[in-house]
Amino acid sequence: MAQLFTPYTLRGMHARNRVVIPPMQQSSGIAGMASLWHLAHLVRFAMGGAGIVFVESTAVEARGRNTHGDIGLWSDAQIEPLARIAEALRQQGAVPAIQLGHTGRKAGMQKWWVGHGGPLTQVDAEQGEPPWTSVAPSALPVGPGWPTPQALETIEVESLIHAWGESARRAREAGFSALEVHGAHGYLIHQFLSPVTNQRQDRFGQDRMRFALEVAEAVRREWPEDRPLFWRVSLADVVDGGLELEEMVELLCKLKARGVDVVDCSSGGGISSHPTQGKSVSNSLRFRAETAKLLREASGLQVMAVGLIITPQAAENHLQAQQADLIAVGREALYNPNWPVHAEVALGVNHNYATWPQQYRMFLVRRAAAADALRNRCSAANRTCT
Ligand SMILES: Cc1cc2nc3c(=O)[nH]c(=O)nc-3n(C[C@H](O)[C@H](O)[C@H](O)COP(=O)(O)O)c2cc1C
Repeated sequence: MAQLFTPYTLRGMHARNRVVIPPMQQSSGIAGMASLWHLAHLVRFAMGGAGIVFVESTAVEARGRNTHGDIGLWSDAQIEPLARIAEALRQQGAVPAIQLGHTGRKAGMQKWWVGHGGPLTQVDAEQGEPPWTSVAPSALPVGPGWPTPQALETIEVESLIHAWGESARRAREAGFSALEVHGAHGYLIHQFLSPVTNQRQDRFGQDRMRFALEVAEAVRREWPEDRPLFWRVSLADVVDGGLELEEMVELLCKLKARGVDVVDCSSGGGISSHPTQGKSVSNSLRFRAETAKLLREASGLQVMAVGLIITPQAAENHLQAQQADLIAVGREALYNPNWPVHAEVALGVNHNYATWPQQYRMFLVRRAAAADALRNRCSAANRTCT
């Protein structure tokens, strides 16, 4: 039996298999609300057999959006469209999950299909999408050409921690069964963690982990005991003077003590636009797999592997090698939302469409039989089927 298709239980969450659709921002919200695009986009993955489907990074406050199209959970009015998505995912057999995030100094970007995909400009403002002032631990821009963020006052940091808790409450009320905190990709939590971006003198600078830990506590207070909590990290800062792996292990142990269950081992979206100088920092597939295994052993957390996991066999290999407990498949699932049910066939688990939607099954069985019969007739007549 392929491990990829063994059921997965964590706290009170039961997933039919270990294939996870990771959060993938669509920039298609309307005034911070999830739209019909989100419903259609996400339900395809549930119908395709994924075990857990994550809603994209959902902002805990309006300043923390990446683009004007980002969705949020900073107000109760934003719950209802997300609740419909959660229910639709559940109806199609997937665990409904959601990621909460705040982009910090990376806020105020163009949608990636508009302009050059950089910070919002005057031209965007004239077209109805004005830039806004981003916030960060310290007033340090991402790089040349980026606006300088406003350094958060200590009291604002405290109120942001509260906002994370409030958004977790709304995610609970929307009916999600798993929640992920976005602590990666050079966004706000990562900015507090990294010495490159956190040069504060207050307690959130003296202890760079403090913000992350207080967010974990605030979220766990609102997130029910029987629902698992995921935490996304970037495995490496990929920059000189950045966060080291030893610190990551320490952070994960502390997060586990605060009720985090799964570390989602990502690596994309660095902390800085400055290139690494001198220090050799690997970001290869092998580095990621080995680091995920190391973090799994050192922290005792469950691990979700992610990043360029393309074939079913590669996914299965990660599980067999005990590098991961869950496998996230992002862009491959955009290309083929039926990746999980196709992977079942590739791994020899299921050949009879049993896990496809019941509305399709009989027709797919007949289709396969008809296609086989046609192929046989063609081959008997020694001609090519078109
Ligand atoms: C369109 C798109 C949007 C994404 N949005 C998010 C996001 O909202 N939050 C996040 O943590 N990662 C985001 N990611 C990263 C994915 O979750 C995933 O880590 C990445 O695509 C690597 O996995 P893959 O190689 O299987 O695609 C996004 C990726 C894509 C392609």
